[in-house]
Amino acid sequence: MFLLLRYCSFFFFIFLCFYPRSCFPARITPEQITVITTDDTHKSTWFNFTRFKGADKDSHVINGMSELKKYFQRFGYLSIPDGQDGNFTDVYDNQFESAVILYQQKLGLRVTGKLDSDTISTIMSPRCGDTDTAPGMIHATKHFTYFDGKPRWNAKSGSDMPMTLTYAFSTSDMINYISSSEIRTVFNRSFTRWASVIPVNFMETEDYESADIRIGFFGRDHGDGEPFDGVLGVLAHAFSPENGRLHFDEAETWAVDFNKVKSKAAVDLESVATHEIGHILGLGHSSVKDAVMYPSLSPRSRKVDLKLDDVKGVQALYGSNPNFKFSSLWESEISSNKGNGLVCRSSKWTFALVVLVFFIL
Ligand SMILES: *[C@@H]1O[C@H](CO)[C@@H](O)[C@H](O)[C@H]1NC(C)=O
Ligand SMILES: *[C@@H]1O[C@H](CO)[C@@H](O)[C@H](O)[C@H]1NC(C)=O
Ligand SMILES: *[C@@H]1O[C@H](CO)[C@@H](O)[C@H](O)[C@H]1NC(C)=O
Repeated sequence: MFLLLRYCSFFFFIFLCFYPRSCFPARITPEQITVITTDDTHKSTWFNFTRFKGADKDSHVINGMSELKKYFQRFGYLSIPDGQDGNFTDVYDNQFESAVILYQQKLGLRVTGKLDSDTISTIMSPRCGDTDTAPGMIHATKHFTYFDGKPRWNAKSGSDMPMTLTYAFSTSDMINYISSSEIRTVFNRSFTRWASVIPVNFMETEDYESADIRIGFFGRDHGDGEPFDGVLGVLAHAFSPENGRLHFDEAETWAVDFNKVKSKAAVDLESVATHEIGHILGLGHSSVKDAVMYPSLSPRSRKVDLKLDDVKGVQALYGSNPNFKFSSLWESEISSNKGNGLVCRSSKWTFALVVLVFFIL
């Protein structure tokens, strides 16, 4: 397995070297997480790609393939073609094969360049998304990534490590079906997890305007150039350091306790909060399936514990919290690995493809 990963990383690196993608302007970069459920109401959101199962470059032309190309383009694996008024063709060409390889890499699938059944079922699964692929996002040998330019927070002049970042909740843009104290508890735990591994403290403040990290729930167009899309789809987005905006889509059914919330589309607030705080700190997405920063989250599932990959990624930016011990992490990874079968099964149902989108704000 390890060798396979090594091989994949190498291949991916080589691929990137030749990836014909022009550089995006590096600006503030919101990173989003999206989930689309499998219920019937949302099935129509994505084309049925089942019929492409087994296709590869030798298949040449397959009717409707352009729809799949649009999907890949939507999530950052393909660029819009020149000519033909920007329409994709139905040809399984080299560029498309490269996109499939990149996708398989990013999602931790076997790298075949073919639309094998694992790849198709991952594509067809509920998903999470924004774009994944940008040169600055990819680290050749590790699995975690950063925003372009590797931005991080810096201690304000005159103050020492550990630095303290303040966070505040919007006074006007919140949800009312979860109590404010429950929301605070969720965020307290989410921030504490990250604070336990790096020399950064987080402190809640009442002053939203001046807080480093500003948290709110917004619907549709909310003024940052990245409108939310209603139920499911995009769940939340966060901006790269040192912007600090952390927005949740108010249209989702947010849950802190699945025993109390029956909706099939319920989304665990703490899991998304923990993931988004990773972005706030400067992490991009990880290809490690168990990592918090993996771009995928099933509805009605929880993924809140930082994994080795998350920890290594964030510590490479900020250094280690002196009280942090890797041994505690090993123990929790070993015990959590026992539940792996379950994790894999549920991830068939929801895959979050997180796409890094470069917005010019
Ligand atoms: C997709 O199409 C296949 C046949 O081409 C069908 O068996 C399958 O049920 C369809 N899946 C969905 C989700 O519509
Ligand atoms: C490109 O797609 C648009 C919208 O689907 C269509 O109207 C147009 O005719 C297409 N152009 C070509 C050259 O296929
Ligand atoms: C979490 O709550 C505890 C107890 O109220 C407090 O001491 C701590 O500073 C809080 N942590 C964060 C990150 O808000």
